[in-house]
Amino acid sequence: MNLASFPMPEQYCSSAEETLLGLVREASPIDSQADARVSFAGDVISGLSARHKQLPPKYFYDATGSHLFEAICRTDDYYVTRSEIALLRNVVAELAASIPDGAVLVEFGSGESAKTCLLLDAAPQLSAYVPIDISADALDEASARLAGDYPQLNIAPVVADFTGQLRLPAAADGRPRVGFFPGSTIGNFDKEGAVRFLRSARQVLGDQAALLVGVDLVKDEATLSAAYDDSHGVTARFNKNLLIRINRELSGDFDPEAFDHLALWNVAESRMEMHLVSCKDQIVNAAGHTFAFRSGERLHTENSYKFTADSFAQLAAEAGWSVSNIWISDEPRVAMVRLEPHP
Ligand SMILES: C[S@@+](CC[C@H](N)C(=O)[O-])C[C@H]1O[C@@H](n2cnc3c(N)ncnc32)[C@H](O)[C@@H]1O
Repeated sequence: MNLASFPMPEQYCSSAEETLLGLVREASPIDSQADARVSFAGDVISGLSARHKQLPPKYFYDATGSHLFEAICRTDDYYVTRSEIALLRNVVAELAASIPDGAVLVEFGSGESAKTCLLLDAAPQLSAYVPIDISADALDEASARLAGDYPQLNIAPVVADFTGQLRLPAAADGRPRVGFFPGSTIGNFDKEGAVRFLRSARQVLGDQAALLVGVDLVKDEATLSAAYDDSHGVTARFNKNLLIRINRELSGDFDPEAFDHLALWNVAESRMEMHLVSCKDQIVNAAGHTFAFRSGERLHTENSYKFTADSFAQLAAEAGWSVSNIWISDEPRVAMVRLEPHP
């Protein structure tokens, strides 16, 4: 892993002196912690009871998982972040030029908000920033850092599951909205889920909005496989951290060492898949239930769909969006797509 050559978040951001924005921090939790724990337990019970065991990838992101994801982004193998940042640097002036005065930037799955600083620096006409993430820890850390870097910016973080009903904070009332969804997170949905999310984003952002989506493109299998099974084992730790989270939050007794990380390219579905493979026949308890794993049995933990320009445009169209522009990075190629609502 070459951490030294990867820009750290603070290097993307302008200094406090360069900004004219001020902080108003507004939290609007949609799910209480107790509700979130009940949903987690329900998803674990149904996912581990299914014929093909599976769990939704949103549960990767506890505090440790969020930090491990940031570490993945800094590996040489995970090209997605590197290519997307390089692309954003090249096109950010063009993106910023189309952002109206006083607009609010709404980011879905903002994580450490590292890429956001490129937009915030290039678009001082933004009046507020609404980062939305399921990980309260990641959101807290990012909001505190941005508060220092952009003292004049109205920052209104929202801890929420973006697959549920979203309600924007008052900072977004009556203002034009620009959505930002980088990092290929759109690829974690299956097709129906992606259309559902894009429809809901259109509703939340309104008829005058634009949505900037970071999309990973189909490429050679070797590059894809290395990105989801990096040579330093960070992605394997990220995957197994899900079991550690279940142990901690749902009184589980998973032995993470009794599972192997597996990343594979599913060409028919055009997606990378991550699994945890049981190394032996074993019985595991979690959330008050008992689950049997056969040796070699897989627990499917993530999909990451890869698109072509056409396949993504088609998906967006089903959700009521048209592609107004698409920019493609150098190899390994990723795309930044600007969507506008269908008239
Ligand atoms: C693949 S990471 C991308 C992070 C960042 N946007 C980037 O481009 O590097 C996915 C992010 O979305 C968040 N996330 C995943 N599922 C979510 C959900 N259902 N609701 C809200 N946030 C979610 C995670 O916590 C994480 O910060």
